[in-house]
Amino acid sequence: MRSKRFRRCESVSEMAKDRGSSHSRTSSVAKIFPRKPSPYSITLYIILLFAFSIFIFIFYSKDILEDEQNILEDEQNPPLPEESRSQQLPDEKLWGAPYNYGLLPCIQPTAKYKATQGWDRYLTVRCNGGLNQMRTGISDMVALARIMNATLVIPQLDKRSFWQDSSIFSDVFDEHHFIESLKKDVRIVKVLPKELESVPRARKHFTSWSGMSYYEEMTHLWKDYQVIHVAKSDSRLANNDLPLDIQRLRCRALYYALRFSPPIENLGKKLVERLRSRAGRYIALHLRYEKDMLSFTGCTSGLTDAESEELRIMRENTNHWKMKKINATEQRIGGFCPLTPKEVGIFLQAHGYNPSTLIYIAAGEIYGGNTHLSELTSLFPNVVFKETIATQGELKAFANHASQTAALDYIISVESDVFIPSYSGNMARAVEGHRRFLGHRKTITPDRKGLVEIFAKLETGLVKESSLSYLVMKLHANRQGAPRKRGGPLSGIKGRARFRTEESFYQNPYPECICRSKRASQ
Ligand SMILES: *[C@@H]1O[C@H](CO)[C@@H](O)[C@H](O)[C@H]1NC(C)=O
Ligand SMILES: *[C@@H]1O[C@H](CO)[C@@H](O)[C@H](O)[C@H]1NC(C)=O
Repeated sequence: MRSKRFRRCESVSEMAKDRGSSHSRTSSVAKIFPRKPSPYSITLYIILLFAFSIFIFIFYSKDILEDEQNILEDEQNPPLPEESRSQQLPDEKLWGAPYNYGLLPCIQPTAKYKATQGWDRYLTVRCNGGLNQMRTGISDMVALARIMNATLVIPQLDKRSFWQDSSIFSDVFDEHHFIESLKKDVRIVKVLPKELESVPRARKHFTSWSGMSYYEEMTHLWKDYQVIHVAKSDSRLANNDLPLDIQRLRCRALYYALRFSPPIENLGKKLVERLRSRAGRYIALHLRYEKDMLSFTGCTSGLTDAESEELRIMRENTNHWKMKKINATEQRIGGFCPLTPKEVGIFLQAHGYNPSTLIYIAAGEIYGGNTHLSELTSLFPNVVFKETIATQGELKAFANHASQTAALDYIISVESDVFIPSYSGNMARAVEGHRRFLGHRKTITPDRKGLVEIFAKLETGLVKESSLSYLVMKLHANRQGAPRKRGGPLSGIKGRARFRTEESFYQNPYPECICRSKRASQ
């Protein structure tokens, strides 16, 4: 199957080549025609040639379109393995990355891209959000500085958010590498020049998801100010309709320049090696079963009355959460609840993973600790956390720095053989996008709504235990992280609100930063 698809892809480029040469052939044929043709025959020939070219064009472009569709359809309906009803699947199905059609990172600027000139106007930034929100925000700020012809001052990290982390940029990221690797794109300085510290700054909350014209217009601020302060960094830049060079710059910034600081990178690598030496392969599970998440979403399935009450009170008392009264049943049916540890266990079992599978849990504290976690570990006992694979000494430097421990989870998740997020969110999106970028590593995204339906049918006996595996695998056949184009806005939503419904650029940087490399297809 694979080699067939591969050949089909290759043949598209061959056909494209053929098409090019057939055009040149027809023009040389035209030169050999009778020396003194009548105007009538010239017209006839031209019409015939024209018709022929159109025929060739339609013929081949139909093929190309079909091929594009095939890529998408295959992703939607890959053949289920024959063994899908049994528990033991071939290793390749369980662990192998989806076929990537030779799609690889492509981040080189286009030919017309010019090196930066090092502007004497400055952009200062205060980041907001958790680690992954800040990382994507910083990458957007790099792009913004480029669009606005500004020098970027190393951004301030969020110290006020829920995570209360006092880390500064250079604690979390390799500052020197960040500055150096973007040298040709944007000038970045560690601090604002002394003489500008006290000059008035334009303080801006840029409009969310803005495009080129918005920021080009904002350059009028340079007439009155030498420094613009950006008060919020998240989602300031549109996902779509930006120049290719800006999109690729975002990818260079996020995937290459914004490397974690050496202590984090080193420990992250060490932990990945430790996991591999234990079992060879591992699943990274982003288990969003934390107290704040459950309280915020109002999901109480599988919890005791006392626990539900505790979460309700927490929600009641958290001022910035607007939704107070939540119907847990409706949330669950709608697919808005994180999977419970028990559901994750059934999910993995249904996919055919062996009970001895090594599972790394990337998460904060699991709500209810072992009482809830045991519903997963009873099926998959080989569950580990960073606290169990790293020594206390190794983790000491990162304790009380949520961004730095989140960075360790990030590295281990990106490097895992299989990544499974139990809920959506900034981390899940960022890891998924990074894995797509690196060659479509396997990411299984649970269809929570569909799963809840199956689980309900199982409980009422409408679905037999024996067909559970088949149903779960069928539901997730096209949710394995295979190549697909980034999703546009939801239909029916008008105005600026539609930007919010688009798939995030960083969740799927295809097609701008992922393409079919010539070398890879040879
Ligand atoms: C930024 O500088 C380049 C090169 O001088 C210029 O072509 C471009 O118009 C400037 N962009 C803005 C938004 O001022
Ligand atoms: C919650 O929603 C479900 C399904 O719509 C409904 O049957 C139930 O009565 C609701 N519960 C409350 C407390 O409103």
